[in-house]
Amino acid sequence: MQDWTRRDVVKTGLAASLGALVLRPGRADAAPAGDAAEGAAAPAAGPGRERLLLDFGWRFHLGHADDPARDFGYGQEEEFAKTGDFMRGPSRPDFDDGAWTAVDLPHDWVVELPFQNDPALYGQGFKPIGRDYPATSIGWYRRVFDLPAADDGRRLSLEFDGVYRDCVVALNGVFLGRNLSGYAPFSFDISDFATYGGKNVLLVRADATEHEGWFYEGAGIYRHVWLVKAAPVHVPQWGTCVTSEVRGGGAAALTIATQVENEGSEAPVCRVRSTISDPSGRVVAGAVTPPVRLAAFSGREFTQQVSVAHPALWSLETPRLYTLTTVVEAAGAEVDRCETPFGIRTVHFDADRGFLLNGERVELKGTCNHQDHAGVGSALPDRLQAYRVERLKAMGSNAYRTSHNPPTPELLDACDRLGMLVLDETRMMSSSDEGMTEFGRLLRRDRNHPSVIAWSIGNEEWLVQGTERGALIAAAMKRLARRLDPSRPITEAMNGDWGKGLTNVVDVQGFNYVHADMDEFHRSHPGLPCMGTETASTVSTRGIYANDPVRGYVSAYDVNFPPWAATAEHWWSYYDARAWLAGGFAWTGFDYRGEPTPYKWPCISSHFGILDTCGFPKDNFYYYQAWWGSRPVLHLFPHWNWPGQEGQDIEVWCHSNLERVELFVNGASAGSQEVHKDGHVMWKVPYAPGTIEARGSRGGAVVLTAKRETAGPAAKLVLEADRSDIAADGEDVAVVTVRVEDADGRLAPVADDEATFQVTGPGRIIGVGNGDPSSHEADKGTVRRAFNGLCVAIVQATRTAGELRVRATAPGLAAGEVAIQCRPATPRPAAG
Ligand code: GAL
Repeated sequence: MQDWTRRDVVKTGLAASLGALVLRPGRADAAPAGDAAEGAAAPAAGPGRERLLLDFGWRFHLGHADDPARDFGYGQEEEFAKTGDFMRGPSRPDFDDGAWTAVDLPHDWVVELPFQNDPALYGQGFKPIGRDYPATSIGWYRRVFDLPAADDGRRLSLEFDGVYRDCVVALNGVFLGRNLSGYAPFSFDISDFATYGGKNVLLVRADATEHEGWFYEGAGIYRHVWLVKAAPVHVPQWGTCVTSEVRGGGAAALTIATQVENEGSEAPVCRVRSTISDPSGRVVAGAVTPPVRLAAFSGREFTQQVSVAHPALWSLETPRLYTLTTVVEAAGAEVDRCETPFGIRTVHFDADRGFLLNGERVELKGTCNHQDHAGVGSALPDRLQAYRVERLKAMGSNAYRTSHNPPTPELLDACDRLGMLVLDETRMMSSSDEGMTEFGRLLRRDRNHPSVIAWSIGNEEWLVQGTERGALIAAAMKRLARRLDPSRPITEAMNGDWGKGLTNVVDVQGFNYVHADMDEFHRSHPGLPCMGTETASTVSTRGIYANDPVRGYVSAYDVNFPPWAATAEHWWSYYDARAWLAGGFAWTGFDYRGEPTPYKWPCISSHFGILDTCGFPKDNFYYYQAWWGSRPVLHLFPHWNWPGQEGQDIEVWCHSNLERVELFVNGASAGSQEVHKDGHVMWKVPYAPGTIEARGSRGGAVVLTAKRETAGPAAKLVLEADRSDIAADGEDVAVVTVRVEDADGRLAPVADDEATFQVTGPGRIIGVGNGDPSSHEADKGTVRRAFNGLCVAIVQATRTAGELRVRATAPGLAAGEVAIQCRPATPRPAAG
């Protein structure tokens, strides 16, 4: 027997002992499709739609890109030869995954790898990932889940919001498919391969040996996975689309397009019932389609028009959301129901007036962002998406570019809810099948989000942006965009060749950075709206006031930028002075891993952020807050701890939008200065320990004062949570900030004490960080040094309600503690 080949085993009928393919009785759809009369019994429907989170209870193991023996034999077997034999070892129900690590999603395995001083890893944040690192670039995920016998007859699908990257997926040994892009959502119908009334083995092998970007991308199943169960007649994923036209006379005309699929053998008479609820939940409109017989295994789109009187428009200040409830009836019975949030608003780009929201000019005060965050890499719990958007809003920002890839849906949900405009970008600019399917999925997934104002089809595509080939690609992508979403323009973030190639195709011209010939471009293209798709790239490190190439820090005064870039003040003054420009997107809102310009190792993360990787503001945050926000701002810096520099001149800056600022050094005036629009004020004063104070005035009256005092030695840790009340749903998080303070409660501005965290009660730390672009400390763990007085721990609730306490200790300092209430909450329905 031991000499037999595998093929022999299969041929002799012993295959059943391999156990990978579970056979089950024939399905209803094997029956002939009868000519069901109207009113005949509904197709075997089972209960209504369920959307179950499949985030919990996974097992993870690294594979190997070069050695099948360390890659669970992948590629050594005849994987594609016979259905049911894919990834044979781990697909078997009796495979022992005890040596695999228990993980919950979202999960990024790269954030846990050690840093590696290899110049080739500059973009990826010096994490060992790629062709040269075969042992850390393949990830296997295994999840065993139960399905009740009663699910037989329903349509089941798995929805992946994003897996980085090039993954193959198998269920019960059956190859489901492959998905290339780490940013494109994908799904599989598993109805034919599922084991009903038993266990199912789901396997994902992700291959991150190739990169899609030039920045940290992480790797693994770093977004949610869902198990969706629906009746044979149902609305498919992203099958609803609501567009609105706001008309004069106080009404909005809505067009609702609903795709309905019949994946059963009956041919019932179907209709779609659409109901519109306003932001308070009151039903304000509705429509029912005429009944239509839907042939077996067919689909069709239903279109309805409804009118909403006096709509509450979605805006930045009042981001009001309506809900479309879709009910599908088949043979007189409700068989499917789903909800689609949407907003009623108009967006328009104008060549002379810039961007208009609901008919009013809104300057885009935007930031570009990658998706990683301190402590968690690219695997962000949903709450962190909102946390980040809240920080940007606090700066006065109103727009977010998802550079350079489709975002996770929860980011758009947060932008819808909080009032943040989005420039939504695809990853691959191409009219190839791959490029078009990725872009098509982005369009269909995101077109109901009111926050999304335009589609970006690419970034700095210098090989094609100025060419006829580029124009052909862009034209194909534009046709797709028009077909799937006629309501929004397309743009491209070009960094040259304006006036050529893509310029002739896009609806809005994107400019990356400020260029001398922009005014000339506007004169020669008077009909083409323009915006700054990417600007700034100012570099700064939080709490640092002199460049330090050795340690990898850049001064936080608004003075440093690479050759293609500009200071915050320079780019914003330029854009703000030109009404025809719609505004722009600063590179970047948050620091991110990789691209540590202007340095290399030991720096591992970027300095471009206006906030650091944790979300702590750098001084430029207040520049933007002064000129983007609506409230009075007076921000004084640097800190006033310069031992050894007594008597030497120190630059003291103020970011303020008041009329005048007067500076006092230890009580004596150092002079008053007028603040110019979009500018800052600055003094040079000799250092003496004590206090600097700024007094900002308008119309001669002091409106705000700001002080910096020389702090004493670090004495204590003070903890504060961004929210003291979170949901005990196993997903929610609180961001706990640690401040190192002196005995009198002043921030110790250069403290680097090491905090050790302990959590008691129902919670756990999922990551720590401090915003130091040169820190090689572990993101996962319970220890972190402060960086210039600050660090964070991200704490996640369990499903148990109660009080959780986070305590931080550091040698020689008084410990700090904060309490967080985990309030009872119903966890999202999850797969078993
Ligand atoms: C841009 C590019 C960004 C980032 C930035 C750094 O050219 O689009 O992804 O690399 O430079 O300044």
